[in-house]
Amino acid sequence: MNRDFNNQIIQGNTLDVLKTMPDNMVDMGATSPPYNKKEKNKGWLVDKVIYENFIDKVSESEYQQNQIDVLNEIYRITKDGGCFFYNHKLRWDRGDMSHPMDWLRKTKWHIRQEIIWDRMIAANIRGWRFWQVEERIYWLHKPDNKNKIGVELKSAHALQTSIWRFAPERNNPHPAPYPLELPTRAIYAIMDNKKDGLILDPYMGSGTTAVAAKLLGHNYLGIEASEEYIKMAQDRIDNSDSEIKNFNQEMEKHKVRKTFKQRKDEKKFTGRFKSNQKPQLKISELF
Ligand SMILES: C[S@@+](CC[C@H](N)C(=O)[O-])C[C@H]1O[C@@H](n2cnc3c(N)ncnc32)[C@H](O)[C@@H]1O
Repeated sequence: MNRDFNNQIIQGNTLDVLKTMPDNMVDMGATSPPYNKKEKNKGWLVDKVIYENFIDKVSESEYQQNQIDVLNEIYRITKDGGCFFYNHKLRWDRGDMSHPMDWLRKTKWHIRQEIIWDRMIAANIRGWRFWQVEERIYWLHKPDNKNKIGVELKSAHALQTSIWRFAPERNNPHPAPYPLELPTRAIYAIMDNKKDGLILDPYMGSGTTAVAAKLLGHNYLGIEASEEYIKMAQDRIDNSDSEIKNFNQEMEKHKVRKTFKQRKDEKKFTGRFKSNQKPQLKISELF
């Protein structure tokens, strides 16, 4: 393990900085990259997303190639068996849809799952489409010895389901932060009770991934173009205890009251579909 990169946020351009890093050193990562939103005419919420040190406006093909290159570098520096949670969304430009799968399938990663992030609020409330209240989170996997399937999640984590419902973060001066619960869920599900891992966020912004990593007992490694956001992130990391309430709310959700085997032995509902069954219980009521 290369300890030099522990608990650092490096200022610079993500792709250039990633290229300087050694192979196979991070356990996992999570990020929300800039979305190439063109910064205009995208509704009142998105209009506010203007970064301090970076113009989020290039041609779509240039943007996608950059993301492929970034994701392949992240693949290279991730340990075999490691993974990466990549938050993105479906976007439209003059009626043409760009789907994250358009470029994810061109990277080296194995796509382990597409998770819906239900934000419960729409950025654009015109009627060209049904109001888009969701984003996507791609769980990307780097196989270990060609094992494409990977390690099984514990039930306490898997029962969070493939739809994650978190309201967007509101008490953060950064223009596009994600909520603390999001990286907390991803890191806790994968690392479980292991400690001292190295968790990457190549677009660190206000440091949300680093705060989650620290509160879970891990080291972080961030890249960020803006000096101002790095200061913001460092301040949050130094005061991470003040965010413990939101963190604990997420941790509380990862508790199994009864295991699948206990429910099966007691002949209780296990989630298996039977044709004469009444409407299903909520998954969270099962365990
Ligand atoms: C969506 S925000 C990430 C927010 C972060 N998840 C949080 O919760 O605060 C994307 C960040 O990437 C940074 N950024 C954009 N392009 C970059 C680049 N090429 N290299 C480094 N940082 C970049 C922006 O300054 C911004 O802070």
